[in-house]
Amino acid sequence: MTRTSRSNPTPASDSTFSDIGSRNGRIFHVLDPRQFDRGRLDELCALATRMRQYAKSRLGSRSFQTLLPHKRAMLYFTQPSTRTFLSFENACHLLGIRTSEIRDPAVSSEVKGESFEDSIRTFSSYADVIIMRTQGPGMASQSAALMDRIGRPVPIINAGSGRDHHPTQALLDIYTLGRSFEQRGGIDGKTIGLMGDLRRGRTVRSLAYLMKNYKDVRLIFIAPEEFAMEEDIKQDLRTADIAFDETDDPASVLADLDAIYITRLQKEHDLQDESSSFDHLRFRIGPEQLPSLRSDAVIMHPLPRGPELDPAVDDDPRAMYWRQERNGMWMRVALLVSIFEVDGELPR
Ligand code: CP
Repeated sequence: MTRTSRSNPTPASDSTFSDIGSRNGRIFHVLDPRQFDRGRLDELCALATRMRQYAKSRLGSRSFQTLLPHKRAMLYFTQPSTRTFLSFENACHLLGIRTSEIRDPAVSSEVKGESFEDSIRTFSSYADVIIMRTQGPGMASQSAALMDRIGRPVPIINAGSGRDHHPTQALLDIYTLGRSFEQRGGIDGKTIGLMGDLRRGRTVRSLAYLMKNYKDVRLIFIAPEEFAMEEDIKQDLRTADIAFDETDDPASVLADLDAIYITRLQKEHDLQDESSSFDHLRFRIGPEQLPSLRSDAVIMHPLPRGPELDPAVDDDPRAMYWRQERNGMWMRVALLVSIFEVDGELPR
């Protein structure tokens, strides 16, 4: 194991990032996981739980429909997605928001040469919020800057941008961790292993960024050297004084973990054939690894999965990844309620 020590005892200044996307101290655009401090995370998690409780009753569920029927959402997903798309779409519909979608640039006027910015500006003529997944990094931020520049009050939500960020996935992961550790003092003090293609996995990158909001958390990055976590994340953790270790030997750390977060090989980002060197037999959770995990450990995966997560694990009570999917819809409901500032209209 390579031990990476805490090198900077100065806590991160959230003021550096908390202004990203915010308006009057509230969330507006959702672009980067670093814009969420502990207060915002706790508020969103509590709101997601409140909303799902109300939804259990017919009256509560019906009252959701009256919250945002005057709003329209554009779902612009030009990179493949199942659960992020569907959970946002269903979150919108639960709140009465009408949705439009483009899932393939080949069916938009981009194919005729319309620029990305002109396309976003066009969506903002019809929609009150644009939720976007893009192949490349930085496109949500570029869109938010465009909206701000032309003075159009349309929030942009980053639903996954290339290799760099997936902030709403990180929010639902925090929500899932918090619920899983509800009876064990929450996320503070927990040891969390992140395993797989850490270099190119935007979900693990975004989740690692959020960990600086929790006290005495220890992260263990578990990956072959070629797929190790990138330096920008490690530097951010050092600055925030979050302890982390790195190892290429999963067996040596499984018993230490309160949670293991597995991620798939991101073959779509191969420049040549880098993925062929990844050892799926070594960096995986299957029936043979389960006895090494603690009886109260939590097994998470953003899905979709590959060979790194054996379907035989699905029946294990420690498997949380199907709950993650469902939690994602409620976290996205909470986010939309918060962005459109209708949380005050909910019954207490
Ligand atoms: N976790 C996740 O982003 O899944 P999809 O790619 O299916 O949206």
